[in-house]
Amino acid sequence: SWTTENVVEDAIAAIRAQVGDKRVICGLSGGVDSAVAAALVQRAVGDQLTCVFVDHGLLRKGEAEQVEKDYVAATGVRLKVVDAADRFLQALAGQTDPETKRKIIGREFIRVFEQAAAEIVAEAGSHGETVEFLVQGTLYPDVVESGGGTGTANIKSHHNVGGLPEDLTFQLVEPLRRLFKDEVRKVGEELGLPAEIVWRQPFPGPGLGIRIIGEVTRERLELLREADAIARAELSAAGLDRDIWQCPVVLLADVRSVGVQGDGRTYGHPIVLRPVSSEDAMTADWTRLPYDVLARISTRITNEVADVNRVVLDVTSKPPGTIEWE
Ligand code: XMP
Repeated sequence: SWTTENVVEDAIAAIRAQVGDKRVICGLSGGVDSAVAAALVQRAVGDQLTCVFVDHGLLRKGEAEQVEKDYVAATGVRLKVVDAADRFLQALAGQTDPETKRKIIGREFIRVFEQAAAEIVAEAGSHGETVEFLVQGTLYPDVVESGGGTGTANIKSHHNVGGLPEDLTFQLVEPLRRLFKDEVRKVGEELGLPAEIVWRQPFPGPGLGIRIIGEVTRERLELLREADAIARAELSAAGLDRDIWQCPVVLLADVRSVGVQGDGRTYGHPIVLRPVSSEDAMTADWTRLPYDVLARISTRITNEVADVNRVVLDVTSKPPGTIEWE
């Protein structure tokens, strides 16, 4: 029968059987899924595991610090931090197609993991050894929506499923592959992870890279990071964190509209707020946020973020819209 305890026990046994006494790495994204997957693997094989946090330059404000502090403090896991922003931004330069962007990000993640794996082996002085296993926090909906399920259309290449390169040398360890998000949260609680990690709202592995509609550049990322931080701060201040599933903040980088700010005409970009309510992200409804909260977010973003002169609300459910714009 399905109990969280059984799921944890089975997962640990399966990880031990798959991995044996080999070394494993796990990419931590700061999200719930990779955190719980890593905690399971750590429970199963202890310090055969090294976690790798890739700062791809597509993170939200404060995210890198949060993983470095919170997660390590909670689990004592061995963590390697890789600053890979330049490499991701170079690879994304000039790219505007959503699936192309997703596949580039998925590929670059793997290349960074390969390099990190080689360094981990070298640092341990274990010459000739290789890291054969890569842990991913893939969930059941990721598998289905990347076309991995039976008879399902390929909607998006999730960075850790359909976005992987074909010449992948790692064997994947995916202990959450049959779970939904609410089940993953229960497993995280069972494993004793802190509430800030277990109840964190979902954030996609490709990060802000798929929330800039158009080419991803450093300047655009900075702009979106500011707008996103404002929206998150105001939603938290209003006590709405647990009422919404997540609220992507999206920059329509190639769209401009006329505004009037200060004493002059502006020609700036719109920011889209996409608050959604959901059980499992397979379907979702747009969240009816209080107007005063929306007003505060709008006022602050247009006042504080240069080049943004309009904030719009996405009132589309899923289907027909997906949660993320790309
Ligand atoms: P969509 O946009 O497909 O999103 O309705 C469903 C849920 O998945 C998240 N998402 C991702 N998570 N890697 C992830 O780890 C990805 O590539 C990815 N793409 C979307 C999205 O934020 C939402 O919670």
